Amino acid sequence: MPSPMRAAITGSGVFTPSQVITNDELVVAFNAYSDRQNALHADAIAAGTRTPLPQSSAEFIKSASGIEQRYVLDKAGVLDPDRMYPKLAERDDDTPSQMAEMAIAACTEALAQAGLQPGQIDAVICAASNHERAYPAIAIEIQQLLGTGGFAFDMNVACSSATFGIQAAADMIRSGSIRSALVVNPEICSAHLEWRDRDCHFIFGDVATATLIERSEDATGPYFEIKSTRCATDFSNNIRNNNGFLRRSRPDGVADRRDMQFMQNGRKVFKEVLPMVADHIASHMSDNGVEASDLKRIWLHQANKSMNDFIGRKVLGRTPEPGEQPNILQDYANTSSAGSIIAFSKYSNDLKDGDTGLICSFGAGYSVGSVIVEKHG
Ligand code: COA
Repeated sequence: MPSPMRAAITGSGVFTPSQVITNDELVVAFNAYSDRQNALHADAIAAGTRTPLPQSSAEFIKSASGIEQRYVLDKAGVLDPDRMYPKLAERDDDTPSQMAEMAIAACTEALAQAGLQPGQIDAVICAASNHERAYPAIAIEIQQLLGTGGFAFDMNVACSSATFGIQAAADMIRSGSIRSALVVNPEICSAHLEWRDRDCHFIFGDVATATLIERSEDATGPYFEIKSTRCATDFSNNIRNNNGFLRRSRPDGVADRRDMQFMQNGRKVFKEVLPMVADHIASHMSDNGVEASDLKRIWLHQANKSMNDFIGRKVLGRTPEPGEQPNILQDYANTSSAGSIIAFSKYSNDLKDGDTGLICSFGAGYSVGSVIVEKHG
């Protein structure tokens, strides 16, 4: 028998870092790095024992991905050709962690939108593609800093973390174990992106998003009822990051190995993830009696514009009208789990009572999660 309790998104929030890197700036830094490396290894390159590093191109980045800029926590470190990764200040154990600080900003916005005080929240789920430390959970630190009640835990399903977190929170609300939850996605992608690899150096940016989920009956303003959620996974090595706790135990210890940062086989990801996502959404919609013509908006994971164009066409059976499937990746790049929630947060207020929409995120794992929502109020 279906649960009498219904869950709803009653607030959302986005924390956007203040520093921006445009494609042009990124390419200047990468090309300077490439020139320096090639000069440094000129003899080996001349002897044919080393392949010279190629130059990157802002035109390629925009046409292959749709990305025009990205927000980051530290621009100077990323753009320093002698460094090529962010420089973040060391924080002692009594200072809020970087992820918790970003999370608080996004959660505060979501709480204000829902008209709730932190003490009214029963659970915090910090759902992200990398966590700053193994334990104590970042979510428990967020719980303490905000002053929320109940419990908190971290979870990681890479780019799909937000939708999997929403399903977990909605299920707990429907089962009656909690009345409300914050699902927060602080993503410091700039720290696990390999900025020295031309094939991927443009992909990611930093951000934090939050969704506040409550029992529908507790909502005091407009809300999005969660009609249904669906998550799926299928193991693949095509997007991988090997920076785990066994690192020190390996023969080369903590060496700065390429596989300790984000690795992907982008072409394969494209070919394999697209059909998985299109089939997933189609079956989720049909099992819930949702027709393409019922969907007023689709908020997709923000990795690549052509990917989203393809999925939008598959889901709707036609090219989406402007605004039906909003992209934010031109401004934010890929922000892993946060992407679909940025799109939702920025482009959902105008929906009308009774309108149906779909949030979908997908990526490493492989993983895909979809949430069918209906606007009330
Ligand atoms: N500047 C200039 N040229 C570049 C370049 C750069 N920054 N990066 C790659 N190229 C070159 C390649 O070397 C290749 O040259 P070749 O044809 O001579 O071999 C050519 O451009 C095409 O490269 P390719 O990697 O096949 O491009 P693509 O069209 O697949 O686009 C991605 C690359 C990463 C944008 C795309 O594969 C993608 O978005 N994949 C899915 C990403 C995704 O969802 N990831 C999930 C992460 S969570």
